[in-house]
Amino acid sequence: MKKHTHSDVVTSYQAYKSRVARETIPCYEPSIGKEELRLVTDVIQRNWLSENKYTREFENRLAKICSRKYSVAFANATAALISGMKALGIKGGDEIIVPSFSHSADPNSISNSGAIPVFADVDPASLCLTRQTIEKVITKKTKAILYVCAYGNVSDLEHIVAYAKSKKLFLINDCAPALFGNYKQKPIPSYGDFSVLSFFADKTITTGEGGMLLSNNLALINKVNTYKHDGRKERGVDLIEYKGYNFRITELQTAVGVAQLKKAPYFVKRKKEILRYYQKKLTDIKNVRVFSFNPDGAIVPHRVVIFVPNAKKLMAYLTSLGIGVRSMFMPMHSMPAYKIKGDFPNTQEIYKTGVCLPSAPSLTDKNIEFVCQSIKEFYEPR
Ligand SMILES: Cc1ncc(COP(=O)(O)O)c(C=O)c1O
Repeated sequence: MKKHTHSDVVTSYQAYKSRVARETIPCYEPSIGKEELRLVTDVIQRNWLSENKYTREFENRLAKICSRKYSVAFANATAALISGMKALGIKGGDEIIVPSFSHSADPNSISNSGAIPVFADVDPASLCLTRQTIEKVITKKTKAILYVCAYGNVSDLEHIVAYAKSKKLFLINDCAPALFGNYKQKPIPSYGDFSVLSFFADKTITTGEGGMLLSNNLALINKVNTYKHDGRKERGVDLIEYKGYNFRITELQTAVGVAQLKKAPYFVKRKKEILRYYQKKLTDIKNVRVFSFNPDGAIVPHRVVIFVPNAKKLMAYLTSLGIGVRSMFMPMHSMPAYKIKGDFPNTQEIYKTGVCLPSAPSLTDKNIEFVCQSIKEFYEPR
């Protein structure tokens, strides 16, 4: 096999960037402006760039929004997952059940906390784990279930929480893209022993990169905080209690986060409107099914997802028109880092047939019309 050099990596990133630059309708883009600039300027004028008052404000406000007692900001959701697992006492040889249909952050954080990711299939109706898919892979070594709110969706979460409790397992809720989503009248991030959020640039609110861990368990939060701060309680304390990490976010980022919170109601409303608009426009195309988020929840769609006979072919056509589309999560069990043999038919089918359509709040109705018209032309040429 050809050796991958650093210049190959740079070239493929440049190719990716120029492909994205050709997208006249982006798959996603953040909406940042004057308020973000004002608060970032305030941070610069204060001359304290590491975590400070905006970070505490961002944490406190998110704990309230998510009906959680405590929250800790992180550099990203992956760092929050690793720290949370370490704080739960997850160790070498422990198994954690994780959907193969997930972000690489999920199996990677399990592996990097020393445990073994045990892959399970998902339900195609929800894109999430079910009790049945969990029961297929549970063993005596299972210590936790990592539930992934794929594309912001959930299903049976309350039953899975109860099931984990009955088996004395931890329930970790990766609701990275599910902020502001509710399920059974409760915020989605309020479920689980702990939950994590991401504020990457494609999330409902963004800090560029960023994450948050939320929990009601103070002992867990204290440990999480220590792992985040290099193994010490806080900056200014020299005693290293754990072999920790520097997983801190910066004040510049959380100032952006605080500014984004003001606009969040609009982002949520617009994302739901965009989904409804696509549903209306795509309903008559025989080969297209718009993914339905769980009606038992007030879900905020992370992306508008459609299922078609061959995702690759449709994506190539839409890309050629400058429409920013993305594939769904690639099955994690078959990645070179994991290479697990097993039967994950739903995960594989979702990857082959699912397409993420442009869904940023900045999208205009005209943009959506064009995307839908292009899909119609692909399947029903005149
Ligand atoms: C379900 C899920 N988990 C984890 C992550 C990783 O988040 P981060 O990039 O903040 O580490 C993402 C990011 O998109 C995600 O969608």
